[in-house]
Amino acid sequence: MTPDEVAFELTVDGVRHEVTARWSESLLTVLRDRLGVRGPKTGCAHGRCGACAVRADLGDGAPHVLCACLVPAATAAGGSVATIASIGGPDGELSDVQEAFLAEGAVQCGICTAGFVTAATELLETNPDPTRTEIEAALYGNLCRCTGYGRIVAAVEAAARTRRQQEAP
Ligand code: FES
Ligand code: FES
Repeated sequence: MTPDEVAFELTVDGVRHEVTARWSESLLTVLRDRLGVRGPKTGCAHGRCGACAVRADLGDGAPHVLCACLVPAATAAGGSVATIASIGGPDGELSDVQEAFLAEGAVQCGICTAGFVTAATELLETNPDPTRTEIEAALYGNLCRCTGYGRIVAAVEAAARTRRQQEAP
């Protein structure tokens, strides 16, 4: 280990890893290049597009969505990260949000999709009946160059509707 490196534990999608990374290395670089976790995408690498969004618990017990390209990996030491890979079922089943994105035609090139699904999943777990404005606010940090956003918002509304119907007595 060189003087500019740090060793720490990090749980990714339920799997514990021993990581050695440079202090300045981003969580996205560690996920993709060191651990081979390719769900979070590299878009702008400057916190502008949301393609790298993951859900993370950095030790405060409150998972939240963050841009993995902006966070030095060492700040996640001892914490846990959930990527798009663990949003669906253990055998590759799609989540309700992923199903809704497909059904509504909210996926084109797909570079943005993991980030949108991650942000939408976080929204629906904290707010099962979001208004259109709340959906747009939750997805504000995610950019899509293909779909025009309408179908993405419709997909989140559809997933929310399905969840409420399933939870209704
Ligand atoms: S790649 Fe992280 S926000 Fe664009
Ligand atoms: S589907 Fe291509 S950028 Fe969103």
